[in-house]
Amino acid sequence: MNPTIELLKSHRSIRKFTGEKIPHELLRELIRAGQSAATSNHVQAYSVIHVVNPDNRQKIAELAGGQNYIADCSDFLVFCADMKRSTAAADRAGAEVIRGMTEQLLVATIDASLMAQNVAVAAESEGLGLCYIGGIRNNPAQISEILRLPEHVYPVFGMCLGYPDQNPEVKPRLPVEAVLREDFYTDEMDDELVAGFDQTMNDYYRERTGGNKDTTWSEQLKPLFTSKLRPHMRDFLSKCGFEMK
Ligand SMILES: Cc1cc2nc3c(=O)[nH]c(=O)nc-3n(C[C@H](O)[C@H](O)[C@H](O)COP(=O)(O)O)c2cc1C
Repeated sequence: MNPTIELLKSHRSIRKFTGEKIPHELLRELIRAGQSAATSNHVQAYSVIHVVNPDNRQKIAELAGGQNYIADCSDFLVFCADMKRSTAAADRAGAEVIRGMTEQLLVATIDASLMAQNVAVAAESEGLGLCYIGGIRNNPAQISEILRLPEHVYPVFGMCLGYPDQNPEVKPRLPVEAVLREDFYTDEMDDELVAGFDQTMNDYYRERTGGNKDTTWSEQLKPLFTSKLRPHMRDFLSKCGFEMK
C-alpha cells in the first residue's frame, strides 16, 4: 500500500501531548497545506483562529466541557465557517449580495471541514497528533466572544495539535460494505453488518480496558439520539447571520 494511504489508515485521535512546541514555520506550512483543499467555487469560506493566549485556552477548555488537552496541547486552532470575507469582496466588486442562505451555511461548513482535514493529515505526516474538538459548540456564543468572531463567521470545531505522548490503537471503522453502495442506496445488509461491527467494537473496548468497558457501537450511539444535542445551535447560527433561508 502506498505511504499516503497507510498514513490515512493509521489515524487515531491524540489527547495527551508532550510539552514540545510545534515550530512556527511548520504550523504555517500545515495551514498552507489546509488551504490547498478543494473549495466550493474557490470561495475559501473559512478562517482559522490560532488561540495563543493561555487564559483563553483555559477558558475554552472549560467551555468545551473540561477538555484539558485544549490548554495542554502545543497549538489550538479553531476552524470557522466564514462567509464574511467573500461576501464583502463581492460587495466591494459591486454585487447586491444576498446573505443567510442555507446553501451558504453548507458551503462554509464544508469548506472549513475539508481545510481542517488537510491540516490534520499534513500534521500526522509530520509525526504530530491531533484531536478535533466539537465541544466548542457546547457554548458557541461565549467562544465567539472570546475569539471576537464577527457576523457571518461561526466556530465549527477546534483542533488540538502537538507531539503525541500516548500511542492509542487505531479505532475500527465500519466495514466498507456498510458505507459503499453500488448504483443505489440499500440498507438490506445493515442489520448484519452493524451486528458484526458491534462485536468488533466490543472486542476492541474490552481488550483496551481489560474487560472494563463492555459496550458496543450501537450502545454508544444511544445517548446521541435520545437527547436533543446542542439545541441552541439553530438560534446561534441565525444570530451569526447563517439564517437558513
Ligand atoms: C467534528 C469532530 C468533533 C470532535 N469533537 C471531539 C471532542 O470535542 N472531544 C474529543 O475528545 N474528541 C472529539 N472528536 C474525536 C472523535 O471522538 C474521534 O475522531 C472518533 O471517536 C474516532 O476516533 P479516532 O479519531 O481515534 O479514530 C471529534 C471528531 C470530529 C470529527
